[in-house]
Amino acid sequence: MGIIGAGPAGLLLSRMLAVQGIESVVLENRSRDYVEARIRAGILEQHTVDTLREVGMGARLDREGLEHDGIYLQYPGTRHKLDFPELCGRNVWIYGQSEVVKDLIAAQLDDGPPLLFEVSDVQPRDVDTDSPSIAFTDADGVAQVLECDVVAGTDGFHGVSRPIVTAATDGQLWERTYPFAWLGILADVAPSTDDLIYAWHPDGFAMHSMRSPSVSRLYIQVDPTEKIEDWSDDRIWEALATRMALPGWELQTGPVTEKSILPMRSFVSSPMRHGRLFLAGDAAHIVPPTGAKGLNLAVADVTLLARALVRLLAEKETDLADAYSDKALARVWRCTHFSWWMTSMLHTHGDDFDAQLQLSQLQRVCTSEAAARELAEMYTGLPVAL
Ligand code: FAD
Ligand code: DHB
Repeated sequence: MGIIGAGPAGLLLSRMLAVQGIESVVLENRSRDYVEARIRAGILEQHTVDTLREVGMGARLDREGLEHDGIYLQYPGTRHKLDFPELCGRNVWIYGQSEVVKDLIAAQLDDGPPLLFEVSDVQPRDVDTDSPSIAFTDADGVAQVLECDVVAGTDGFHGVSRPIVTAATDGQLWERTYPFAWLGILADVAPSTDDLIYAWHPDGFAMHSMRSPSVSRLYIQVDPTEKIEDWSDDRIWEALATRMALPGWELQTGPVTEKSILPMRSFVSSPMRHGRLFLAGDAAHIVPPTGAKGLNLAVADVTLLARALVRLLAEKETDLADAYSDKALARVWRCTHFSWWMTSMLHTHGDDFDAQLQLSQLQRVCTSEAAARELAEMYTGLPVAL
C-alpha cells in the first residue's frame, strides 16, 4: 500500500492494515513537528474511540481523554443539557486531534511501517492498472518511485489525489461556502463548564470546549473577512462572555496561547475511488466544524477502506472495494447534513425571520425527546456499517 498523507486518516489506515499483516508506506509532505502541532478537532465519537482502542491506540486516550455524557444547547435565557447516554446510550470523548496524531506517529515510528516526512513532488501513477506507483522526491532531494498494489489518497483537501479521481471519472463535486467563519482560541484556563456549550446569540454563535482540566478551547462566529490582528484577547473574551452569558454563571479568562480564524465550508466529491486509487477523509469531503464530524468521518472512511483492502489484497475479492465509494458516501452525506443543520441552527445569518426559525428549532430540540435523540445519535456518531 502506498498512503499519501500522514493526517489521522492516513496514519490510522496504515496502522489498521499493519494489524492485518498488510505492509504500507506513508508519504507526508510536511515535517513531523508541523503535523503534530496542528490544532484542529477535539471531539471523538464512540466508534472513533472504539477503533483507536482496537488497534492499540487507546492507552493515553483512556488516561488523558475526558469522557463526556452530553452537551449544553443555549439560547437567551436557557442552557439545556442533552444527556447522551439517556437519549442514545453512547458518549463522546475530548481528546485533541493533535494527540491522536502524536500517538499514531509514535507507534508508527516505533514498530510500524515506514513513514516518510518532508517528501515532495508526490504523484500517483498508473492507478487504472493493477500495478500503480507513487513518484516522489524524498527529504534528501532524491527522486524515488514506490511500487504498490493500491494507493490511498489521504492527503486532505489540498492534496494531489482527488483531482486525479475527479478527472478520470468525470466525478461530481458539491460545495457550500458559509457566510461566516470561526475565530478559535486555546487558553490556559480551567474550563468554566463541565460539558461543551453551543450558544446561539443575536451577536453570533459562541462555543465553549476544552482540551484538559486546565486548557479551554473556545470559538466565536465572525465574518470571514475579519483579520485576526483586529481581535485582541480582551475583545475575544468580551464577545465570548456576552454571547454565553447566563445569570449565575461566569466565564473564567486566562492567557490565550493560540488564535486563528477558520473558514467554513461543506464539500463532497464523488466517487471516492478510481481504479486502485482510493480517497478517504478530507481528500474527499469537508464539513463545517459545528458538531465535530471532520475527524470522525475520516476515521469512519478508513475503517471501511481497511476492511475493503484486506479483502482485496489478502483474499483477492473485489466486492468490498467495489462497494467502498457508495457505502462511504452514504455516511458522508448523513454527516454533511448534520453538520450543515447544526451550523444553520446556531449561526446568526439572514434576517429576523431566520432568527425566529432558529430559536423555534432550538426550543424543539430542548423540549422534544424525539428531536433531542436525533441530535444525540448523530453527535455521538452513527456506527460504521461494515
Ligand atoms: P488531514 O488532517 O488534512 O491530513 C492530510 C495530510 O496529508 C496532511 O498531513 C497534509 O500535510 C498531507 N498532504 C497534503 N498534500 C500532500 C501531498 N501532496 N503529499 C503528501 N502529503 C500531503 N474537525 C472537527 O471535527 N472539529 C474541529 O474543530 C475542526 N477544526 C479544524 C480546524 C482546521 C484549521 C482544519 C483545517 C480542520 C478542522 N477540522 C475540524 C477538520 C478535521 O481536522 C479534519 O477533518 C481531519 O484533519 C481530516 O483528516 P485527514 O487525515 O483526512 O486530513
Ligand atoms: C470542538 C470543535 C467542534 O467543531 C465542536 O463541534 C466541538 C468541539 C473542539 O475543538 O473542541
